[in-house]
Amino acid sequence: MRRWKGRRTGLLLPSALLLFWAHSSLAWICGQQLSASFQQQNNVSAIVGGNPADILEFPWHVGIMHHGNLLCGGSILSEWWVLSASHCFDQMNDSNLEIIHGRDDFSTKNVKYQKVDKLILHPKFDDWLLDNDIALLLLKSPLNLSINGTPICTSEVSDLRAWKNCWVTGWGVTNISKVNIQSTKLQKVQVDLYRWDWCTIVLPLLTKNMLCAGTQDGGKDACQGDSGGALVCNKKRNIATWYQVGIVSWGMGCGKKNLPGVYTKVSRYLKWISKQTAKEGKPYMYEQDSACPLVLSRWAILFLYFVMFLLSW
Ligand code: ARG
Repeated sequence: MRRWKGRRTGLLLPSALLLFWAHSSLAWICGQQLSASFQQQNNVSAIVGGNPADILEFPWHVGIMHHGNLLCGGSILSEWWVLSASHCFDQMNDSNLEIIHGRDDFSTKNVKYQKVDKLILHPKFDDWLLDNDIALLLLKSPLNLSINGTPICTSEVSDLRAWKNCWVTGWGVTNISKVNIQSTKLQKVQVDLYRWDWCTIVLPLLTKNMLCAGTQDGGKDACQGDSGGALVCNKKRNIATWYQVGIVSWGMGCGKKNLPGVYTKVSRYLKWISKQTAKEGKPYMYEQDSACPLVLSRWAILFLYFVMFLLSW
């Protein structure tokens, strides 16, 4: 009996540690909308051809500000990290960058800005081809994710056929004829992902790190000022969770028929992201190309609770 008791206490510590690990692996809840209202409205106004969006539908969307002006869009990866496009930050000093989150109207007063501590551009960013158009922003203090903010999920899945229901958001140009007029209200538009082979026919300068998306009749697209924002989709098998598949990067005009918008293909950079974030001591975990780790950890929690129950009995 005494021996059993000793073993019991010996087991208690590793079990508690495992329990802690299992819990923290579940802590990265991502890609959940805070409200679901993806109805199509008829007052077509903007991103180009989109509609006003509620931040609760896209709680990962942030604005990146430079000296108080909106520079680009971005997305929340975690409380510390924001993802955006490299071309937004041409020779820029990180200390002047700030982000706003939890807002769909950035013109409203009392907006709380969050300072950027470090800007990490992709070392192989090509400012001519816009290849490797990706950047990470490390914040000075962590985001308060309870205030209308949620991280977006990312996944290793690289086959575009796995995705459906794709949307892009931004405060960019809403009317191609008035290029200087940006929207102060966040806009959303639904686009289709196209096969890379087809994209290269109409956009010959496409690299394998890019993907293209648009609509058959044109008229719906991201535009100037939307750069850095997220293109998000659902997995065909799971429509409750949102993943970032692309980053708004470039296009030839906006919303032109047979000229889809071009996005950085996020799945090609997940290893780079996890390396950079780990280097800064604030590691970011993406979802691997199998649901196993999550399923396992959920079962692991149940199992460990059971073990703890037996042990404390
Ligand atoms: N480069 C633009 C920006 O800096 C984004 C252009 C996106 N264009 C498009 N047609 N999808 O805001």
